[in-house]
Amino acid sequence: MTDIAIKVTNISKVYHLYDDPVDRLKEALHPMRKKYHRDFYALSDLSFEVNKGEIVGVVGKNGSGKSTLLKILTGVLTPTKGSFVTNGRVLALLELGAGFNPDLTGIENIYFNATLLGATKEEIDSKLNAILEFADIGEFVHQAVKTYSSGMYVRLAFAIVANMDADLLIVDEALSVGDVAFRNKCMKSIKQLRDHGATILFVSHDLSTLQMICNRAIWLDRGEVKGDGDPVNICQDYHSYMTGEILTSKGSLVPQQTTGMAKFEKFYFDWNDDKKPMYKTGQDIRFRFSLKALKPIEKQMLGISVYRSDGDWLIGEASSKVGFFFSPMSEGELQEGFCELVENCLAPGDYLAAIAAWSEDLSICYACTEVSLPFSVRTDFPSWGKFAHPCRWGLGKA
Ligand SMILES: Nc1ncnc2c1ncn2[C@@H]1O[C@H](COP(=O)(O)OP(=O)(O)O)[C@@H](O)[C@H]1O
Ligand SMILES: [Mg+2]
Repeated sequence: MTDIAIKVTNISKVYHLYDDPVDRLKEALHPMRKKYHRDFYALSDLSFEVNKGEIVGVVGKNGSGKSTLLKILTGVLTPTKGSFVTNGRVLALLELGAGFNPDLTGIENIYFNATLLGATKEEIDSKLNAILEFADIGEFVHQAVKTYSSGMYVRLAFAIVANMDADLLIVDEALSVGDVAFRNKCMKSIKQLRDHGATILFVSHDLSTLQMICNRAIWLDRGEVKGDGDPVNICQDYHSYMTGEILTSKGSLVPQQTTGMAKFEKFYFDWNDDKKPMYKTGQDIRFRFSLKALKPIEKQMLGISVYRSDGDWLIGEASSKVGFFFSPMSEGELQEGFCELVENCLAPGDYLAAIAAWSEDLSICYACTEVSLPFSVRTDFPSWGKFAHPCRWGLGKA
């Protein structure tokens, strides 16, 4: 039991739905206790365990029960049936509005919140500067929280969370608010918490972040667990479910935002079976793609990016660098092509790739995939660092 952070056993959350608001009153007053409602299962007989140190991303379409689950685990809601156990100090960043007293100032809320989290006044005193520095909202800390923008609100909430020693951190979509710099700061502190052995459960629609930072993903659908496992697999399954496309062995579904101008129909490797491609350091890695024009488009420059699974962006190469452009296309036309990483010098590890098509002058992005195509690199020799760079060694003066 000691290495378990969360244990959920057969939890259900049932809401009573009334077709007409008056029915609620009729039901309350009915002498024979006639039922006017329908039972709605926001969560249905949910069971799972999370081990200490796991970083679990929770995905699922709107209304699938994600917030309900997180609120139950933080004690904001009680389950209708079932039970759960959490171990250690639980910190939560729930939806906006939860947790702060709007009439108190930022500073007062820091003390108020941290006390609720079980911190002593001395502990909060010693961390106040770090919290204020992280929040970076200046003089606003002396204003009532009700005057804050949602961005400022999240900054303050996350600053408290980042500076308290949590055993279990629960975050509900809070990070989608705020600018990139702040998001990065939050990610950094999530990673620090992770490195200190904290367990993290977070809901996010940002599938690229989730695949990079989590080591497990749980997919909720209509209040039930539809998938649980490797985040890259789960995110791909979830994404294909959401977009209604089918994963095929060659050129699996390509997650991407719609531009209306062009679309990557396929983005894949020359690889014989359905398994995740595994290359040796030094081997050529050939990415293949097919791009479909949804409107007539000018000639294109293609760009390929490779990220390490922890999110580090390692390679960004453009076809224009070697003077190569892809032909103009008419509406509906399909163009196939490839990019070869020649004698790759990646260190052993797990990677994700993305591809994009730009206009020649880089002003228009015709199509751009998410950081989504997984592959691995392995070597037969021990290797350190991010690259296994070809080297020349010698004796004597250069
Ligand atoms: N107080 C409530 N009364 C009735 N239904 C509710 C209530 N709160 C949430 N629900 C319903 O429960 C379902 C799950 O909601 P929620 O957990 O917020 O989903 P998610 O966070 O995945 O979008 C939704 O269908 C929502 O409409
Ligand atoms: Mg929600």
